[in-house]
Amino acid sequence: MRRPFIAGNWKMNTTKAEGVALVKGVAEGNTAGDSVEVAVCAPSVYLDAVVTAAAGKVGVGAQNCYHEASGAFTGEISAAMAKDVGCQYVILGHSERRHIFGESNADVCKKVHAVLAAGLVPIVCVGELLEERESGKTSDVVAEQMYGSLAGVTDEQMKSVVIAYEPVWAIGTGKVATPEQAEEVHAGIRTLMTAKYGEAISEGVRIQYGGSVKPDNAAELLSQPNIDGALVGGASLKADSFLGIIAGANAS
Ligand code: PGA
Repeated sequence: MRRPFIAGNWKMNTTKAEGVALVKGVAEGNTAGDSVEVAVCAPSVYLDAVVTAAAGKVGVGAQNCYHEASGAFTGEISAAMAKDVGCQYVILGHSERRHIFGESNADVCKKVHAVLAAGLVPIVCVGELLEERESGKTSDVVAEQMYGSLAGVTDEQMKSVVIAYEPVWAIGTGKVATPEQAEEVHAGIRTLMTAKYGEAISEGVRIQYGGSVKPDNAAELLSQPNIDGALVGGASLKADSFLGIIAGANAS
């Protein structure tokens, strides 16, 4: 049994006061208890304050980090720094990192190793562009991202990895993948993991769906056999809508 995992990706949004109020609202309103794992991924400058406000009731993650442990890397944060302020997760290889900031699979892979070495959970994002879907390349693109981003990850390490399938055309567009479209790719991702890590490990790894998840579509998406959670952008910025998605995960 894979425990559903709902993570909010706040991206470059909120003030410190808004972020603190938001995580408190999520912590107070969450009635799913242990049956759903819940986290918010805040801007790095607010992580410390958000961890304190979450008071252990909601997990907290960073949205990115650099692969080196420390040194002359102006503007970057390390996985150890995220851990030091109380994070448990780091989102890696989000499509905005890949497409706006030019991160390659090799870059993402180095970060995955750094995050695992720090004892944090990487949420590794994969997903195709619209033109890639329309030209029938979705499964090739996702396979390349999966194998490229996870190269060298051991069986033992793989047990703590979370995958997020986020079709780029569905992110922030209101154009959600249908449950069938998403399930098809999720099942493909599970098959790729089984080929590399065997069934016992593959069956334990959570695969989140991301891209225009809302309270009214969450339960149906999450009722698919290989959709084990959601990575939520826009709808994670209001406690009510994020709580609605958590409730949808609990119901599915
Ligand atoms: P969205 O973003 O929910 O606003 O589509 C998802 C994401 O980018 O993680």
